Amino acid sequence: MQTCFRGKHFITLQEWTKEEIDTLLEVSFDLKKKFAMGINTSYLENKTMFLMFFEQSTRTRNSMEAGIAQLGGHANYLDTSTMQVAHGEVAKDTAVILSRFGHAIACRNCFWESGNKYLREMEENSTVPIINMQCDLYHPLQAVADLMTMQEKMGDLKRKKVSVIWAYATSHKKPISVPLSQVLLFPRYGMDVWLAHPKGYELPDWVIRQAEESAIKHGGTLTITNDMDAAYKDADVVIPKNWGNWVTDPENKLGNELLEANRGWICTEEKISFGNEDVYYMHALPADRGNEVVDAVIDGPHSIVYDEAENRLHTAKAVMVLLMGGK
Ligand code: CP
Repeated sequence: MQTCFRGKHFITLQEWTKEEIDTLLEVSFDLKKKFAMGINTSYLENKTMFLMFFEQSTRTRNSMEAGIAQLGGHANYLDTSTMQVAHGEVAKDTAVILSRFGHAIACRNCFWESGNKYLREMEENSTVPIINMQCDLYHPLQAVADLMTMQEKMGDLKRKKVSVIWAYATSHKKPISVPLSQVLLFPRYGMDVWLAHPKGYELPDWVIRQAEESAIKHGGTLTITNDMDAAYKDADVVIPKNWGNWVTDPENKLGNELLEANRGWICTEEKISFGNEDVYYMHALPADRGNEVVDAVIDGPHSIVYDEAENRLHTAKAVMVLLMGGK
């Protein structure tokens, strides 16, 4: 078991070995038990972290803020519209200064083709861990919470069919970071991963290549399809969620044309009935009820969205403990 995480960042799970991710999960389960029993977990006393948000958040912000308080530390919430970054201060200067003030910097920056670059610039210049709270490409905190939730419900995940399915939504053009991170992570646990979407909502080729390599290495499979029903069929877990057509239409030349042509990609009770008897319905949230999913599914017996959201707390705490505490 890996015990030394000093000097690591948490920008993508691709940069964490499977052994390191397993340790992260073990610590998450341990912290969850302690949380349930009311055991003191003041592992990060006198530690300060900074939470920089370029976008809104409910789960990520509150799991990090509540999490570090429960670990005995303190978080400064930073809305970047109130920081000098709004006047053009560069990532390097922000990273150097915040490194001198505290013990970790977490950042959410989902701007297409610049969010991840911003985090990398911080990583290059920071002397404390950088934690990705979602960028244009990755959402590792979400993916690891999803993994924990599936392990909790099903134990060994080998050869379980998990389907990451595009869904229609009316709100803003969402990042690809959630499906991208799931498609990269789940094959590392030997799962049979299905990625289903209408034409035009492809993930980058390099993601598919890496996911395929992982599937081969770990004894699972990766199937990509434009057939939504095939993805639901006999699934153990379904994750229908909207994402934007950033890869094929980054400048939004099509407007909402492609999106509106795919209104039928909604998760209904009928779709759920195609899955295994005990199929689990998951969603990172927030969900666009009535568009991505009907209430009867998200509030129904197959849904585990609130357990999944709760695990954001336990996994976030594990990330903070390992990166900011320990050896
Ligand atoms: N799933 C997730 O990251 O939620 P928030 O956008 O509310 O943080």
